[in-house]
Amino acid sequence: MREIDLGPAAAFDDPGRRLVDVDGTEFAVFHLRGEFSAFENVCTHMGGPACQGKILPRVEEPIRADGTSGGMQFSETSYNVACPWHGFEYDIRTGIHVGYPRFRLRSTPVRVLDGNVLVTIPERIPVPPVTQFQMGGA
Ligand code: FES
Repeated sequence: MREIDLGPAAAFDDPGRRLVDVDGTEFAVFHLRGEFSAFENVCTHMGGPACQGKILPRVEEPIRADGTSGGMQFSETSYNVACPWHGFEYDIRTGIHVGYPRFRLRSTPVRVLDGNVLVTIPERIPVPPVTQFQMGGA
């Protein structure tokens, strides 16, 4: 395992993501409210670039004390990324599919050290050349 420095955590959008291409294999590092998560950019459905999709707040339906629906609303704390190929949605913190928890993106460790974001690249992936680009938030 090798760590790659993606630069200052403060430079990440919130919510947001940065895609990293390590010699042809892509990883996504997501940022939400000071927390980072990282996944291989491979959808569990048909291998699409799941992490490049739109980041959307989770849709919630709060239930009132009387058991009735409080209506549909967007979450202020949970966000999903929707695979651009067929719409599988994954929680950007966990990589777990929102409807089918047995489907999850393959995660890789990410941490913040001295203000910089470090993502761990599995050993089977050759180390740089590295290119990275940031995609807009929500
Ligand atoms: S490849 Fe991602 S939803 Fe089909």
